[in-house]
Amino acid sequence: MEKLVIEGGKPLSGAISVHGAKNAALPILAASIMAEGTVTITNVPELSDIKVMLDILQALGCKAEQSGDTVTVDTTKAREHHIPERLMSQMRSSIFLMGPLLARLGKVELYQPGGCAIGERKIDLHLKGLAELGVDIVEENGRIVCTAKELTGADIVLDYPSVGATENIMMAAAMARGKTTISNAAREPEIQDLQHFLNAMGANIIGAGTDTITVEGASQLVPCTHRIIPDRIVTGTILIAAAVTKGNVTLKNVCASHLTSALHVMKRAGVHIAVDGDIMNVSAPSRLKAVERVITSPYPAFPTDLQSQMMVLLSLAEGVSIVKETVFEGRFKHVDELSRMGADIRVDFNSAIIRGVPRLYGATVEATDLRAGAALVIAGLAAQGTTVIEQIHHIDRGYDRIELMLRQLGASIHRTTPVSKEL
Ligand code: UD1
Repeated sequence: MEKLVIEGGKPLSGAISVHGAKNAALPILAASIMAEGTVTITNVPELSDIKVMLDILQALGCKAEQSGDTVTVDTTKAREHHIPERLMSQMRSSIFLMGPLLARLGKVELYQPGGCAIGERKIDLHLKGLAELGVDIVEENGRIVCTAKELTGADIVLDYPSVGATENIMMAAAMARGKTTISNAAREPEIQDLQHFLNAMGANIIGAGTDTITVEGASQLVPCTHRIIPDRIVTGTILIAAAVTKGNVTLKNVCASHLTSALHVMKRAGVHIAVDGDIMNVSAPSRLKAVERVITSPYPAFPTDLQSQMMVLLSLAEGVSIVKETVFEGRFKHVDELSRMGADIRVDFNSAIIRGVPRLYGATVEATDLRAGAALVIAGLAAQGTTVIEQIHHIDRGYDRIELMLRQLGASIHRTTPVSKEL
């Protein structure tokens, strides 16, 4: 298994460009199947999750290829409605194909994505919303068969503003007969990007980015070209890495307005952040300050996907901070690993109480999920000594060759590949 090895203690400095958002690219790639012809998507990061999505599109009959940051999907021969269990189990985001396949073929057969390291992650809200659009759903031993002779617009109220459920319902509704409204919708920027993409294909959707989305169904969608928004979580990760290493970094291709809450918390911790259009500069004083209360919640509140990275910063800040996780029930797996590096964190149900320490120390640690892995990379960059991170396939799901990105900023980080055994 590959590992990352980091020699800590070097301030990050220099400039890099942030890649496109994985969480925008995945539903948009799934939605491409709704139009017949060739769709072109640019600013797509080269990630293992994207590769799985392209494999699924191929299994459904599409030609799907990535060259650099450009993906083309030729959906002309998309006739298959069954998502192979093998691919389904590799990536939860395969559920994004539900809405698009129902819209294009009237049928989809898939499997429960199951739980994962960060929590139960049910899909009941996706299924409930689709049922309200007229989808017949049969579940048996983890297999889900959804059919719809015709999708019909409906007034849907989400019990919780789930990002994925909002996106799935939006995609199905884009080709339903009549009008759909989604109330208590999630407001994440990735949902706005999906709206832009669907509208560029001929859909009629307004309201993404607010809690009420209105969709007038279209009978047909046509191929288009679309550029993915910058990845706000990668942006936040590098900002925090620069701050904890007392560096000075310029980030290009960013969207500061997508990170308002996170920037607010970082500024309260004493991080200096300057924004000029799509460029951001970050630097930090010698000792950061604790932040009394950081609460993760759906957008525009502090993102759960930056919680573990922020915890590293607070571990090195002066004073006591409290982080409350309200989105996923099992998202403190990084705490044990950070504690092995010298952090002082106590977990009480869904809150973590963090007492800042002057320094962290290198150790061998394990990435338990994507963002926990990113947090350990940040901790390793700030720590005294050598950090070895195992299970880094989790990190590759969301960061395009993280070690290359950080080496451009002067970090000492490399990937070890396992030595193949002699036969
Ligand atoms: C998306 C993001 C993920 C991020 C999360 C929250 C993508 C590909 N992933 O995930 O990186 O961490 O938003 O910002 O965009 N829930 C249910 N029933 C459902 C759906 C969700 O109970 O049918 C619960 C989940 O278990 C969780 C909460 O709602 O506790 C939030 O989940 P959701 O907003 O759906 O996140 P994802 O779309 O899975």
